[in-house]
Amino acid sequence: MKKKHVRTQQPEIDRRTFLTALGWIGVGLSAAVAALGNLLYLKPAVDYGPPTLIRAGKPDEYKEGIKEVLENDRIAIVRDKKGFAAISVTCTHLGCTVRTSDAGFECPCHGSQFDNDGLVTGGPAPRPLDWYQVSVAPNGELEIDKSVKVTPGTFFTM
Ligand code: FES
Repeated sequence: MKKKHVRTQQPEIDRRTFLTALGWIGVGLSAAVAALGNLLYLKPAVDYGPPTLIRAGKPDEYKEGIKEVLENDRIAIVRDKKGFAAISVTCTHLGCTVRTSDAGFECPCHGSQFDNDGLVTGGPAPRPLDWYQVSVAPNGELEIDKSVKVTPGTFFTM
């Protein structure tokens, strides 16, 4: 009996073409993963928090005897006869933002009160408001360094 040959259907792509395409797909995926890794490398993995150096504008912009609150930076710039000061408006009790008052500062959260130098005059606040170092930047603007605390009552003179 004679064997009957059955022709199998040829694949649409041959083995060589398939392996070549597979190789190029691998190269493409590797390049994509490497590019993603490089993009992630550009973004720091550590958050250093808000900047500690603040430019607060030209000294002439501040009138004598007025406490000017920079809400985003949570400081009050004070200008008086002695010079300039930067006082924190973060309450030393639980961190609410204090607001200015005729007597100095007062906290809306639990009623702590501070005098014009940030010293506690009432309420639960355990210590005075922080004072920060003030200087003048090379471009003539006031520069406040929130990483350097100074003794309350320390004014920067020009
Ligand atoms: S947070 Fe200011 S008094 Fe409590």
